[in-house]
Formats: sequence, C-alpha cells, structure tokens
Amino acid sequence: MAQENGSNHRYLATFLISLVSLISNGYAWVGVNWGTMATHQLPPKKVVKMLMENGFRKLKLFDADDSIMVALMGTDIEVMLAIPNVMLHKISNTPKAADSWVYENVTCYLFTGGVNIKYVAVGNEPFLKAYNGTYLNKTLPALKNIQTSLYKAGLGSKIKVTVPFNADIYYSPDLNPLPSAGDFRPEIRDLTIEIIQFLYSNNATFTVNIYPFLSLYGNDNFPFDFAFFDGKNKPLQDGKAVYTNVFDANLDTLMWALDKAGYPDLHVTVGEVGWPTDGDKNANAKNAKRFNQGFIKHALSGNGTPKRKGMMDFYLFSLIDENAKSVAPGNFERHWGIFEFDGKPKYELDIRGKHKENGLVPVEGIKYLKKRWCVLDPDATNLDDLAHSIDYACTKSDCTALGYGSTCNNLSLQGNASYAFNMYYQVNNQMDWDCDFSGLAIITHEDPSEKGCQFPLMFASGSSFLLHEGLSMILIFCYVLAIA
Ligand SMILES: *[C@@H]1O[C@H](CO)[C@@H](O)[C@H](O)[C@H]1NC(C)=O
Ligand SMILES: *[C@@H]1O[C@H](CO)[C@@H](O)[C@H](O)[C@H]1NC(C)=O
Ligand SMILES: *[C@@H]1O[C@H](CO)[C@@H](O)[C@H](O)[C@H]1NC(C)=O
Ligand SMILES: *[C@@H]1O[C@H](CO)[C@@H](O)[C@H](O)[C@H]1NC(C)=O
Ligand SMILES: *[C@@H]1O[C@H](CO)[C@@H](O)[C@H](O)[C@H]1NC(C)=O
Ligand SMILES: *[C@@H]1O[C@H](CO)[C@@H](O)[C@H](O)[C@H]1NC(C)=O
Repeated sequence: MAQENGSNHRYLATFLISLVSLISNGYAWVGVNWGTMATHQLPPKKVVKMLMENGFRKLKLFDADDSIMVALMGTDIEVMLAIPNVMLHKISNTPKAADSWVYENVTCYLFTGGVNIKYVAVGNEPFLKAYNGTYLNKTLPALKNIQTSLYKAGLGSKIKVTVPFNADIYYSPDLNPLPSAGDFRPEIRDLTIEIIQFLYSNNATFTVNIYPFLSLYGNDNFPFDFAFFDGKNKPLQDGKAVYTNVFDANLDTLMWALDKAGYPDLHVTVGEVGWPTDGDKNANAKNAKRFNQGFIKHALSGNGTPKRKGMMDFYLFSLIDENAKSVAPGNFERHWGIFEFDGKPKYELDIRGKHKENGLVPVEGIKYLKKRWCVLDPDATNLDDLAHSIDYACTKSDCTALGYGSTCNNLSLQGNASYAFNMYYQVNNQMDWDCDFSGLAIITHEDPSEKGCQFPLMFASGSSFLLHEGLSMILIFCYVLAIA
C-alpha cells in the first residue's frame, strides 16, 4: 500500500512536471517553413490539416498568400508572414504602401476565428552577398515603416517585426576561425547593428538561417560528422567552450558578434535549418533524418549552445519540396522538404523531440493524375535530336535527380531521356501533345521507376477558382473597405 502510494506520488509529480513544461514552454513547438515555389500546389486546407495532425504549431511563410491564409483561419498555428524582397523598395519609400500591406495581410485576418499572426518578416536574406547590395538601403526603412503601420493599427505589442538574415552576414577570420572571433562582415556591420538596435528597442527577435549542409557541400575536407549532433567528431575547443557540432559553432559566432555590438541578450530565432534529400552526394533521406532529428532533440533539450543556454526557437526548412526553385545554389535546392512534392513524408521524424519514433502523417486525399508516364520510345531509331530534346524537357521541368550523387544518377542514356520526358509530361499535366519530342516519346501505363529512382506521377492541381474556395465573406468585406 505504502509503496503504491509512493508510486502514485511519483506519477502525480511527473504529470505535474509535464503539465508545467507544456504550459511554460511557449517556444517548445517545432516550427516549419512553407515555401510555394512549385509548379503544383497541394490544396492548402489539406496541408494545414496535416500540420495540425503532426503537431506543427509554428509556421513561417515567404509571403502572405491568401489561399494559405484562408486555410489557416480558425487554427491556433502561430504564423510568421513575410514581405518578399521585391516589395522592399516600395514599402521603404511609401509609408502608405506599408499601411496597406499591414491592413490587407494582417488586420483583415485578425478576427475571432481568424489567423494567429505573430511575426512579420521584412525581406528574406536581404543582405545576402549574392544580391550585390541591392536591398542594403531598403531594409531598415521598410522595417521601420511596417513597425509604424503595426503600431497605428494597434498591433505593435502583439505582432513583432523581424528580418531573416543569411548566416553570411557574420564570419570568423580564416586566421582565427573560432566562434569567439566572430563579427559582422565589415561592409555591412554598421547597417546590421542599426537594424539590431531597432529590433532590440522593439523587443523583437533577430532571425538567422543556418545551414550545416552547406559547410559540407563543395568542401570535401570538412569533417563529415561535425555537421551532425551525435558528437562523433573530435570537438572544437574555443577557450572554455567545447563545440561538438558546427551548428552551435555557427550560432555562437553570431552570439559573439552580438556581444561585440553591445546586444548580448537580443532574442535570436533560427529562421531556417534543415537538410536536403537529393541533388548532391550528401543529400539523402538518411543524412536528412540524422540531421533534423538530432537538431530537434538538441534545440528542445534546453542545453542551448555554449554561449546561449535555453530552448531554441526555430523553423525547419522545409515542409514540402519545391520543383520550381532556382538551382543556382545547387541541384539540392528543390529537395529540402520533409515531405515529397505530393505531401508524403520522406522519412520518420519525431517532431516533438521525444525519444520514440512517430511516423509523420501525410497530406491526405490527394488526387493523382492517371497512371501514365511518358518515356523514350524503345523503337526510336533516329536519335540525333535526343540530347536537344532532353535539354528542352529538363529546362522546362526538373531533372535535378539525374545529376552526380543523386537518386537517378545511374540511369542509362535511354533512362535519362525517359526521366526527362516524363518530368516534362507530368509537370504539364499529362497532355498528350506534351509527350512527343519529335516522335521520340511514347506514353506507357507501366511505372518506369527503378530501384531508388522514382518516376513521379503528378497530382491534380486545384484551379484558381478552387484555390479561393472558402475565401470568406469577412475577408472580401475587409478588402472592399480597403479599396473604399
Ligand atoms: C499582401 O500580400 C500579398 C502576398 O504576398 C501581396 O501580393 C499583396 O500585394 C499584399 N498586399 C498589399 C496591399 O501590399
Ligand atoms: C550580382 O553580380 C554578379 C556579378 O557581377 C552577377 O552575375 C549577378 O547577376 C548579380 N546579382 C544580382 C541579384 O544583381
Ligand atoms: C546606401 O546609402 C549610403 C548613404 O546614404 C550610400 O553611400 C550607399 O552608396 C548606398 N548604397 C547602395 C547600395 O545604394
Ligand atoms: C519582450 O518579449 C518577450 C517574449 O518575446 C516577453 O516575454 C517580454 O515580456 C517582452 N518585454 C517587453 C518589455 O515587452
Ligand atoms: C550508382 O552506381 C555506383 C557505381 O556502381 C554506386 O557506387 C552508387 O551507389 C550508385 N548510386 C545510386 C544512387 O544507386
Ligand atoms: C544522364 O544525365 C546525367 C545528368 O545530366 C549525366 O550526369 C549522366 O552522365 C547521363 N547518363 C548517361 C548514360 O548519359
């Protein structure tokens, strides 16, 4: 009896502890980025249902797409909206443009049963080296204008602004490549610190995107295991601090830079972190699972980094593959999703950071096109045009799985042609006239997929009318008021 009582107390204690941690850890949810640079969009309502079922409660968007916003209405998912870089010029120049953006994309969704908007990201990696300084002088003025508009709308304390930066805004010198030597890039240092000052005075968060995958990509000397979180690599010593993974070392380089700028306690959010599954020799489901699972466990453990203890606030990159992204960074760029283009999970991932492996729920109720594939006609004899046809098909669809180290890299030349023809045919919704290629191609009803190399079937995309299905009267009314 006494013993039973004791164990009851233990149960009660454990229960209370989990209850307290559930209530107190406002940041304990796994966040995720939902990008939409794809030729075919999954129905937003079905994706949102999947987010809810899997326990994703924090979402980061790259704009404020109304079909996604409508799908989010009535959920408690905490949303970060974004203003794309192309709008920064206008919003930095015209306070009225900032007011309308806030009205149409924020205020209109803030009714009971609306959208739980928490942040507005102004720009996306605007100081990226590759942008050649295009947005340097636009970012802070746009940030200020949006903040002012939020205050005017009475939302200044409820909704916070931020700027997601790429980790290339800070560095450690080659001669002293340790986190403690970290600082902002000299040419943008002053401008970055002005933004930090502004964020700090508004009690807002600093957002940074960190990619250990890129440390590995194109650097064969990088210690492979140091990209992951299982501590299999020789640690990096920096004074008293010991680093067992490159993510922490990278984040602390930022922490040191903030320290030197005089803002050691600025709140930091990891805006993007993840691992791709195709398009490079290190991009596969095994590494992606090892990285993402290790990261989630680490981020939710509360251990933090050597320089910043506590739970991390983060958004995984990304939710679903995007077959229309630029491949300028590399072929892997279209394969960051935890889910395939059609909403099927690529690997098991426990997003609540516990130790058991929960299967992820897919996006359900997806309607596929007919079981038809477009392949090279095995009887084709004149192959003079083949290279040109493959090139054409690939340019207008997605052949990133054919490259070196990718899932379909071992196909024959005929296999390559079939793969390219099929991608073009599927992306164009299986129209008969899109399976021709000067008579080199034929339609087949047999799945040409080979071991490890998938020849996908496209799903039926909603028409633009269906996309707006459910665009509620409240919203329409709100928009009309904006025009009036
Ligand atoms: C609201 O956001 C959408 C999607 O990003 C954008 O197209 C639209 O221009 C924005 N509205 C205003 C008034 O700026
Ligand atoms: C930046 O400059 C490089 C080299 O001059 C050029 O190739 C690239 O297109 C430029 N990018 C942008 C976004 O202007
Ligand atoms: C940004 O503004 C500064 C000062 O106003 C100016 O010197 C600099 O050339 C501008 N940079 C760009 C990229 O426009
Ligand atoms: C600043 O924001 C944090 C959460 O992000 C909140 O706990 C705190 O109360 C805020 N402080 C002020 C002064 O508004
Ligand atoms: C392709 O073939 C090479 C050599 O046979 C092999 O090492 C590699 O694992 C194969 N790749 C795939 C994706 O099947
Ligand atoms: C198939 O295409 C890929 C990507 O372009 C190329 O690397 C590979 O060599 C091609 N295979 C054959 C047999 O031509």
